[in-house]
Amino acid sequence: MSGAPGEGGRPQGAWTRRHLLGLRELSADEIRFVLDTAKGFSEISTRSIRKVPTLRGRVAVNLFYESSTRTRLSFSLAAQRLSADVLDFTKESSSTSKGETLIDTARNIEAMGVDVFVVRHSASGAPHVLSSKVQACVVNAGDGAHEHPTQALLDLFTIREKLGRIDGLHVAIVGDIAHSRVARSNIWGLTKLGARVTVVGPPTLVPARFAELGVEVCHDLDKVLPDVDVLNMLRIQRERQGNLSFPSLEEYTRLFGLDGRRLARCKKGVVVMHPGPLNRGVEITPEVADGPNSVILDQVSAGLAVRMATLFLVVQAKEQQQAAALAALQPPPIEVTSPDAAASVPSPTPDPETASP
Ligand code: MLT
Repeated sequence: MSGAPGEGGRPQGAWTRRHLLGLRELSADEIRFVLDTAKGFSEISTRSIRKVPTLRGRVAVNLFYESSTRTRLSFSLAAQRLSADVLDFTKESSSTSKGETLIDTARNIEAMGVDVFVVRHSASGAPHVLSSKVQACVVNAGDGAHEHPTQALLDLFTIREKLGRIDGLHVAIVGDIAHSRVARSNIWGLTKLGARVTVVGPPTLVPARFAELGVEVCHDLDKVLPDVDVLNMLRIQRERQGNLSFPSLEEYTRLFGLDGRRLARCKKGVVVMHPGPLNRGVEITPEVADGPNSVILDQVSAGLAVRMATLFLVVQAKEQQQAAALAALQPPPIEVTSPDAAASVPSPTPDPETASP
């Protein structure tokens, strides 16, 4: 595998994981290492030829069992920028409708020679199960309401770029926390890097038990506005709820929607984020989503660099592990341990034809 990102020097530290399944299991140093690696890769997007040979000859497969716009395109483009071949699997056009399981599908695709699976699934834990059944790397692109690690990494990257740090910042995550994998991954990442996190929304969407994750729980958006450095506005995950968990969308917007009036009560440089897709006029108004405090499109750009870094790091770790396993299978070289032993090695018999008299 050729070289590391960009030209700006290698990030300090190490990465040894073959899979990226969630931020819960990562240390603060590992998270920083991905962010630093992504910083190197972000430079590639500014070149006229936006492609490097880093993953040439490797194959990445997008295994998406749920719909996606940003995440799937971003992983595809990231793999292509690293010169990998990319295969796209979608549930609708596959043998899933004929009863094939995720594991069988993945193993069959793997038999074609695959290096990394990028998996999105409605079942929490699906990428974790898959990672124990295949030799290829597995990257979690969103599993149920559990984790969406690359979204949180790109959110952290964006905050660090905009505000210069994460440590000591106060970040409010507002909305449907209960059903959000983005919220969970953000909570792990932000708290590990030293941010103060407040989750905000109606009690039905922000249960008190979230405090067990080391965050503050608040049911009054207006109360936190003047104090926060970052507002991450989340969508109501209607596809993961039966009935609405509050009286009406209008009431939700009145109490928890971010509009110009609320923004005016925040610190001047407050950073407004949203993972997309936006429900304009519900959790955020167009004037705020498209306004000067919004970094929503910066998040999308950061996603590309973060996903390039992720693919590079997991494939590199896999190949290093494979090389180490192969080296362990080689017979050990014969070692000459002492001068006496060396003396006891017989000299080759001289060739009578060529030997000098
Ligand atoms: C997700 O896949 O969770 C998205 O990035 C956020 C959303 O769907 O609201």
